[in-house]
Amino acid sequence: MASRGKWSSSIGFILAAAGSAIGIGNIWRFPYMTGKYGGAAFLFVYLAAVVLLGMPVLIAEIAMGRATGKNPVGAFKEFRPRGPWKLVGYLGVLAGVMILSYYSLISGWTLGYFFKTLSGALKNAGTAVTPGIFTAFAQNFWLQAFLLAAFLFITGYIVARGIANGIEKACKLLMPVLFVIMLILLVRSLTLPGAGKGLEFYLKPDFSQLTPRVIIDALGQAFFSLSLGMGAMITYGSYLKKEESIPAGAAWVAFLDTITAVMAGFIIFPALAAFGMSPEGGHPLVFHILPVIFDQMPFGTLFGMLFFLLLGVAALASTVSLLEVAAAYLIDERKWSRKKSVLTASGLSFLIGVPSILSFGNVDFFRRLPLVHISFFEMMDFVWGSLALSVGALFIAIFVGYVWKSSSALKEIRQGAKRFRYAWIWSFSVKYLCPLLIAATLFILFIG
Ligand code: TRP
Repeated sequence: MASRGKWSSSIGFILAAAGSAIGIGNIWRFPYMTGKYGGAAFLFVYLAAVVLLGMPVLIAEIAMGRATGKNPVGAFKEFRPRGPWKLVGYLGVLAGVMILSYYSLISGWTLGYFFKTLSGALKNAGTAVTPGIFTAFAQNFWLQAFLLAAFLFITGYIVARGIANGIEKACKLLMPVLFVIMLILLVRSLTLPGAGKGLEFYLKPDFSQLTPRVIIDALGQAFFSLSLGMGAMITYGSYLKKEESIPAGAAWVAFLDTITAVMAGFIIFPALAAFGMSPEGGHPLVFHILPVIFDQMPFGTLFGMLFFLLLGVAALASTVSLLEVAAAYLIDERKWSRKKSVLTASGLSFLIGVPSILSFGNVDFFRRLPLVHISFFEMMDFVWGSLALSVGALFIAIFVGYVWKSSSALKEIRQGAKRFRYAWIWSFSVKYLCPLLIAATLFILFIG
């Protein structure tokens, strides 16, 4: 679609925005971070961040997008044609391409695991063997490169076809099915003998675990999960009609996204405890434990296949939103064709994804560099997935609170939401809470 389309209905916007928000961020990233950072303490900081910072920034982004009808760079330019504010937009476009590079790689794993389940490779695989199966899978360079390319190709194909068609339809149909499968998994996991210990880990906080690094990752996870801090929601908001309610849409998106992540935790941690696996398994965590859960269920192969397939679809709705940011920028600001924009941005993501693939194999050049000690992939996820989004959210809050001004933003929000009861809370958060809390966390991380 060359011209800028509009969502056909408010439910279309909610499902597409929820589709962007819900993805492997909920089902892969949230559980592994919660496991790595001590369980309940991380969960509570994350939940607080969603309510206090995430929701307000979500409303702010959608309002900026709808008011300007533009991509992130164009939106900042519209308010402030001169000066440095548009850099926040550029940072967002860059973050989108960077996150897309490794996010698509993990998304490719869902396809890989779909076929592994189908072929029976995971049948009777206990906790002793699933980690080895995963390692061999991740170290297979050509397979990984193929999966990454395949996932980016499907993403590019959908984005090239334009906004309202592809994304909206897929989300409407398939998200509810994923939800039902997760409910079934949750029941299975909670009824495993020994599940209680996992529940305790997940729900009984030990706040002595909290360090600046844990807190910044919890904030980062809140932004990552809601697709905030880089303008994805500015872009999606730009396709939203004036008569739709922004606060209601934002509340639905945040609710659906958060409940999905919390549910994933209720699936993963009881099962880990029941099978005697450590929650600190790092990023492969869910790929170690999920096959074991499926193996303990009637029709496990079928459930497993459906789950990985639908998780792939959920991931696809997210990669589409990541690519859409860069595409909308190139189309609007550089006047490129949609096709050329999509090819360039996804091609770039592929190239940047290659070192991430290599960091699972034996040639992790990055980890050997002095001062680094983490893999290229882990560096990407921290720098872009946690830090850049937090910095982006910080600047978006300051911009909406003080430059555009929260009173002008409220005028935009009130179109379609006459009685926005929480207006003052929203203004307070955008003007004071977000800037102070995010800046303080970043400050302590770097100085403290
Ligand atoms: N929110 C998605 C998830 O949790 C990932 C995602 C999509 C994203 N678009 C984004 C993250 C924009 C940050 C910014 O899986």
